[in-house]
Amino acid sequence: MSLILGLESSCDETAAALVTSDRRVLAHRLLGQEAEHRPYGGVVPEIAARAHVEALIPLVEAALADAGVTLADVDAIAATAGPGLIGGVMVGLVTGKALAHSVGKPLIAVNHLEGHALSPRLSDPDLDFPYLLLLASGGHCQLLLVEGVASYRRLATTIDDAAGEAFDKTAKLLGLGFPGGPAVERAAEQGDPRAVPLPRPLKGSDEPHFSFAGLKSAVARARDAGTWSAEDIAASFQAAVVDCLIDRTARALARADGATALVVAGGVAANRSVRGALQALAEAHGLRFVAPPLWLCTDNAAMIGWAGAERFAAGLTDPLDVPARPRWPL
Ligand code: KG4
Ligand code: ZN
Repeated sequence: MSLILGLESSCDETAAALVTSDRRVLAHRLLGQEAEHRPYGGVVPEIAARAHVEALIPLVEAALADAGVTLADVDAIAATAGPGLIGGVMVGLVTGKALAHSVGKPLIAVNHLEGHALSPRLSDPDLDFPYLLLLASGGHCQLLLVEGVASYRRLATTIDDAAGEAFDKTAKLLGLGFPGGPAVERAAEQGDPRAVPLPRPLKGSDEPHFSFAGLKSAVARARDAGTWSAEDIAASFQAAVVDCLIDRTARALARADGATALVVAGGVAANRSVRGALQALAEAHGLRFVAPPLWLCTDNAAMIGWAGAERFAAGLTDPLDVPARPRWPL
């Protein structure tokens, strides 16, 4: 059994967690920066980086105290090394390097996307490789065949916006507030998903890629038309996103040889309509459906600690001069 300290700071959440290789989350601490970014309607990189500097060490100390361990008890330190906002990534990675060096323990540089991709194995001990993963977050929308630790085959990606980005932009257009995903989901509960005719970009196309920019423009036109309530537009938008995600995922399933399960991760996986539709798709294909609990879907450090535990078990550690990478495809 090994004990890993995980650090996350690639966007607007600062987080520290202690995770064991036998899937116990001994502590997870997280500090969001929503209040700091809300006046700007989106994440401001400079503000984010400064907030990570202030928050990270106190969160590490709190997590260690929660778990009743010291840094010396930790077997390795896993920090997000990208992709993400470079200022924040550097804060987390440099902190991880300093902590690792101070106690002479190995550093594991984790790809944030790998954190999301492996997180379902933390919550579900029966989830075996390979599985088809829909990774839908604020910065990414991908379909990956997860074949093993450090072994990913990308079957699809977005040709413009990510799904979460489309939620965030729609929320902004409709004046629903920040962060956008949960705000759109709440508004959609009060609206009619069939009220507004919206496009389903790329639906039915052969390659299983995603596109959401046209949908966002259609939302802007629907708002400007003044015919529909924000709730009806939100509900219709969410229905269109779900349709696209399901159509594209179904297309990828045909190429996901040997997949044992359909898995969803990333912030958009917190959306109940998205989860429900994916579950139905999995059942129609006779596959298990696995979705991590909501707290593990959005950014957190337990998923980084867990990816660290999986890499550590595979003998994958990194030198202290490993670089921070703002762009880093899986
Ligand atoms: O994975 P995540 O926390 O951060 C990134 O790595 O991007 O994902 C954040 C994204 C945001 O775009 C947010 O609006 C979206 O996930 N999101 C949601 C919901 N909760 C978060 N989108 C739709 N419905 C939700 N309930
Ligand atoms: Zn994320």
